Amino acid sequence: MAPLNLDTASVFPFDLHRYALKVRYYRLARHALHEVFTCMQILPGDRVLLPAFICRDLLAPIHAAGAVPVFYEVDRDLRPLELPVSGRVRAVLAVNYFGFPQDLLVFRRYCAKYGAVLIEDNAHGLLSCDAAGRLLGERGDFGIFSIRKTFLLPDGAMLMANTQEWQSCLSEQLPFSRESLPLSFWLNYGLSRIERNTGIAFHALGQELIRKFRYLRTGYPIATSQSADEFELPLLPAPHHVSMSMFAKQDFAGEIGRRRRLYGEFHKLFSSMHIKPLFNELPEGTVPYCYPFYAEERAAQQVTRVARSRGFDCIHWPALPAAVESEAPLHYRTLWLVNFLC
Ligand SMILES: Cc1ncc(COP(=O)(O)O)c(C=O)c1O
Repeated sequence: MAPLNLDTASVFPFDLHRYALKVRYYRLARHALHEVFTCMQILPGDRVLLPAFICRDLLAPIHAAGAVPVFYEVDRDLRPLELPVSGRVRAVLAVNYFGFPQDLLVFRRYCAKYGAVLIEDNAHGLLSCDAAGRLLGERGDFGIFSIRKTFLLPDGAMLMANTQEWQSCLSEQLPFSRESLPLSFWLNYGLSRIERNTGIAFHALGQELIRKFRYLRTGYPIATSQSADEFELPLLPAPHHVSMSMFAKQDFAGEIGRRRRLYGEFHKLFSSMHIKPLFNELPEGTVPYCYPFYAEERAAQQVTRVARSRGFDCIHWPALPAAVESEAPLHYRTLWLVNFLC
């Protein structure tokens, strides 16, 4: 195996020695989840419990492992209604939606009773902690993180194995990719840096231009999620070396402060609009991925205009799995978010 270009131990910001053994880096959180299934030696036909309110992409590693997804429903606060009991449930995914901590008690009880592995999907919550000060992603058997959703990087995700037993099963760190990066990344990145330094919404303007260009080419302003995304795990699981070195240089404390400040500002700004915030409080330790809210289309468009004028994108979330989409309750179809990534 080729030597690593960057010592993985130097990347994660918290406790370097503690994290070196338990962390592996990937391109996408989907690849990190796939590695969990490899560690667990999941077998074709094994079942994986996950919330029905989820982006369809996350099904790809489950299908790639030959496992069967079994959905549980969540209420308007995105807490599980009931965890279905089914033969051969080997793993349960609990999601910290938008960086807000999920209460894991019911998941822990289920996993203890049925001998399942608890995976904390913390794709949205890098840097976030729960009320007891525990890092999200560190509370289950495994945690998966999508670093590129918190920092503007070419790619980047992380797997955390939280017991010695699971750490001993992890594969070696893949060598970081050295492919050349697309020009669009550097353009986007450059505009975002200018925006951070000047406060002028260049990044949003750049995204608007990219969307107009895509609309002319494909008829869709935003890259659409395809139903095939449920089945196709993207190739090339190794993260780019540029992502890793950019990640190592981030101002973590500054980013925590920026995200918490933005949440408060948007909460105030949108208070007179016809929307319902998903969370009315921002708990101490929570580092929000975005400002999530329920709204009808027209109010969401209004919020989108305000968010864009400040340089932030507002999108409808998520593209639901096909098996969920047709019967999805209203709250699965009316959630929007102002994304803080820039
Ligand atoms: C809750 C959640 N988990 C996992 C993922 C997958 O992350 P990635 O795109 O890095 O594979 C997503 C993607 O949007 C997500 O929203």
